[in-house]
Amino acid sequence: MKFDEVQKQVAGIPYINPRNAEKLYDFIIDNNVKNVLELGIAHGTASCYIAAALEEKLEGELVCVDLLEANELFSPSAEELLARTKLLKNVKIVREKTGYNWFLRNEIKANTDGYTCLPKYDLCIIDGPKNWTIDGAAFFMVDKLLKKDGWIIFDDYAWSYASAGKKGNDSTDGITHRKLSEDELNTPQIREVFQLLVMQHPNYGNFKIHGEGDWAWAQKTGGGMEKTVNIEYNVTYNTLVARAFAILNKVFKFRRI
Ligand SMILES: C[S@@+](CC[C@H](N)C(=O)[O-])C[C@H]1O[C@@H](n2cnc3c(N)ncnc32)[C@H](O)[C@@H]1O
Repeated sequence: MKFDEVQKQVAGIPYINPRNAEKLYDFIIDNNVKNVLELGIAHGTASCYIAAALEEKLEGELVCVDLLEANELFSPSAEELLARTKLLKNVKIVREKTGYNWFLRNEIKANTDGYTCLPKYDLCIIDGPKNWTIDGAAFFMVDKLLKKDGWIIFDDYAWSYASAGKKGNDSTDGITHRKLSEDELNTPQIREVFQLLVMQHPNYGNFKIHGEGDWAWAQKTGGGMEKTVNIEYNVTYNTLVARAFAILNKVFKFRRI
């Protein structure tokens, strides 16, 4: 299915933004990407773009994983949206009671031959709880399943529990904000996973950080190459206005009435 057609069919359904959706779709079309793993799917919007790109290429499979309970939390569910768009054919949706790290354990076990895990994915997107412990561990498990030259994308690079708290949420994906230290609340945890685990890993390079889209990319180069970081901050008019208001708010302590 063409990009514009998917966009029309999923219009208004969160979460992936149109810019990231187009980047992702084009990346799959233009590169040797066949087997994709998406961790954290919500309504399945990004899953639709991935499945559509694979359909255009006439090859590949998407495996996507979310919590069992998320099936009822999101309407439409990923199952409904992928069925409605007729994109379910090359998609396997996995639901786990405790989360994607148990799926990753099963996947590593199923692909282990002797003492080696045979990698099978060309691209993995991590878009789940945005948590140091869960997503830090997920990275090391995904690494075992990711082919050489494959890519890993993290969403929510700059997200923090404090920023979610400002929107009125007192918990995120089972983590109660008030139980966290100030440091844990204010630190963007995916940024820490990316900078401290992924960027320091000897097998990863070609880092790209997209400020506006809040995505961070890394390639499993296998090491032996100079590490490069490409930072893209495309600040839109809306972001500038939002930032200006945030600063004014801090200075003048505007109150909502
Ligand atoms: C922002 S949404 C994903 C959006 C989707 N990738 C998109 O762009 O359309 C985050 C999802 O992660 C899921 N999630 C949170 N913690 C999880 C965990 N430990 N294991 C699996 N899924 C999890 C939530 O249920 C939610 O559906």
